Amino acid sequence: MTTTEKSENLVRVCGVEELTAGNVTRVNTQPPIAVYNIDGEFYATADWCSHDKSSLSDEGFIENGQIECGWHFAKFCIKTGAVTAPPASAPLAKYEVQVVDGAIYVVVES
Ligand code: FES
Repeated sequence: MTTTEKSENLVRVCGVEELTAGNVTRVNTQPPIAVYNIDGEFYATADWCSHDKSSLSDEGFIENGQIECGWHFAKFCIKTGAVTAPPASAPLAKYEVQVVDGAIYVVVES
């Protein structure tokens, strides 16, 4: 058995069929996580915009693999979390996503 200093927890998001392509949902972890379906692939980032904590899952817009913040229109690459348009300057945290038995999970360190 391998031990690590940090343990990882799988947090269930929803069933695969509940998050259709081009959509985003939120997991109410602390801090919350936005989970996206982009062309059938699942990705997860911090839900709060790094500019001023707008909820990207509630108020953002997905286009061309990017999430645009609904408050001041910063854009982020959903796959990498990188800023692609200001006024945000810090990238979004990224989370690993796993699909297990037809459900989507995010990996959260504790
Ligand atoms: S809160 Fe997102 S750009 Fe300002």
